[in-house]
Amino acid sequence: MSIMITSRELRQKYLEFFASKDHKILPSASLIPENDPTVLFTTAGMHPLVPYLLGEKHPEGKRLTNIQKCIRTQDIDEVGDARHDTFFEMMGNWSLGDYFKKEAIEWSWEFLTSPKYLGLDASKLAVSVFVGEDENGIPRDEEAADIWKSLGMAEEKIVYLPRKNNWWGPAGQTGPCGPDTEMFFWKGESEFPPVGSNPGTDEDNWLEIWNDVFMQYNKSEDGQYKPLVQKNVDTGMGLERTLVTLNGFIDVFQIDTFWPLIQKIEELSGREYIENSEVTKSMRIIADHLRTATMIMGDDKQIAPSNVDRGYIVRRLVRRAIRHGRLLGIHENFCDKIAVEVIEIFKDVYSELERNQEFVMLELAKEESKFRNTIEQGMKEFEKLLNGFRIAFEKTGKNVTEISGKQAFKLFESYGFPLEMTLEMAQENSLTVDVNNFEESYKIHQGLSRAGAEQKFKGGLADHGEMSVKYHTATHLLHATLRQVLGSHVEQRGSNITAERLRFDFSHPEKMSDDQKKQVEDLINYAIQQNYKVSFAEMTVDEAKNKGAIGLFEDKYENKVKVYSVGEPDVMPSATINSQTFSKEICGGPHVEHTNIMGKFKILKEEAVSSGIRRIKAVLQ
Ligand code: SER
Repeated sequence: MSIMITSRELRQKYLEFFASKDHKILPSASLIPENDPTVLFTTAGMHPLVPYLLGEKHPEGKRLTNIQKCIRTQDIDEVGDARHDTFFEMMGNWSLGDYFKKEAIEWSWEFLTSPKYLGLDASKLAVSVFVGEDENGIPRDEEAADIWKSLGMAEEKIVYLPRKNNWWGPAGQTGPCGPDTEMFFWKGESEFPPVGSNPGTDEDNWLEIWNDVFMQYNKSEDGQYKPLVQKNVDTGMGLERTLVTLNGFIDVFQIDTFWPLIQKIEELSGREYIENSEVTKSMRIIADHLRTATMIMGDDKQIAPSNVDRGYIVRRLVRRAIRHGRLLGIHENFCDKIAVEVIEIFKDVYSELERNQEFVMLELAKEESKFRNTIEQGMKEFEKLLNGFRIAFEKTGKNVTEISGKQAFKLFESYGFPLEMTLEMAQENSLTVDVNNFEESYKIHQGLSRAGAEQKFKGGLADHGEMSVKYHTATHLLHATLRQVLGSHVEQRGSNITAERLRFDFSHPEKMSDDQKKQVEDLINYAIQQNYKVSFAEMTVDEAKNKGAIGLFEDKYENKVKVYSVGEPDVMPSATINSQTFSKEICGGPHVEHTNIMGKFKILKEEAVSSGIRRIKAVLQ
């Protein structure tokens, strides 16, 4: 294959192309979703745009394009082969009730085949469309098929596939979803696909590279598909896969957002990537896991390794990388050396990495040193276990093949082995682990559930139930109030809302006094009683900053954002937010319209999350 293209060139081409079709370029949103209790990380390009897909007005208009940082760890155990990774970049273009199937498909085709853009050989492309579902009243997508035909796609290369293949979303239990059309590139041995070959008949030889989702339904809690008020287009083209295709690679670790990491690992270990399959696998795991951990820790929400939720995922990634480093013979701290390379690769695209570099380096070094203090002993303990099994077998002829929950818990508690690491090592020795029993020991000791992290991870996107909306507004009031009572050093570090409560993490060096907590409650309840109006204005990030709005400034200064205000006097035109306003915060919404429907605000708990970060749990009664 002759085309050679870098990640930088591909990102640029994609955004340029859609900008030329009147799309506004958005920066990537944070990897940590705002106000969504059901997932730990942003898992798809559409994720941060959900409010807008459901009908909220987007300040940048109806045609958007972006490249979104995403994390999916469902397949974490598959990492080590030539194609799985846990961090990826999703290129997407979006229509919020603007264009629909015709333009979406025509532009996909143009971008893929035009020599000015990807210049792919049209005869090596095939597509799939949705076959339809009578029981749900969803028709076969002849509309999409006809558009493909009008572009010259041969009929036998259009395949009709069911929900499993050609339906997208909702990302959780409820939310926007719809049929999609997927584009595939021929990767078979022969130069061209044989006549009659398509992704339905010959799945293994076609690589999916792009997915145009036609979001026209909203799945409700009772399982019904109701037409969305506005029809949207959500497309997703994975950067990594596309680079593999365009460069004719067979291994995703060959692309330029991975390869320098592999080279660094070769240098640090003195081993060669292609030495043998075990070495290849360990190097891939290290490269993938430390790349992902660095992206999470280097996000503006700064996640440190810990034993719960996102921090636990980071810990698992880092500790697994350390163990595989050990298998390669690396016995000194090395994680920060890989992280430096990751930051080097991505800092032009995701400038937050440079802002948070110091934090990443510090926390990684801390985590690695901590784990290195115990890993050798832990490995000895594990060997002892194996030996015990062997001796028992020799003595009694009885083959014990299960590590008990208590033993796994000891490895966790005393030596810092995440359960998943023990599971992996058990598997390498053809053993199993009594996970249920482990969970029991764990719960007894911690009170908190490690499994909680996993469950959330499988979850989906938040609904916009009435209570969630109230808690969302309460979160703004809390943020503003904390800055008044404690000082302007208070910054949001995390927010998580369910229908039952809000949880808010913020920077503050010490425990809050009872008096401070009471002041916060009183001020918020005062604001609620005042029945303040909640409204928003659209402005550039720069303007928002000048007007004193708080919130995450992850967009570039020229980007337009929404600024929500609580308590802005009604007489003021919405664009001029004055300094008397109770709260002004950059946010996508939605919020309550007036505060008096919110009930009474009460703090349940104020506690430490990590050093310098406090957490408040509160309810509306
Ligand atoms: N949401 C779809 C996907 O992630 C298209 O962007 O594949």
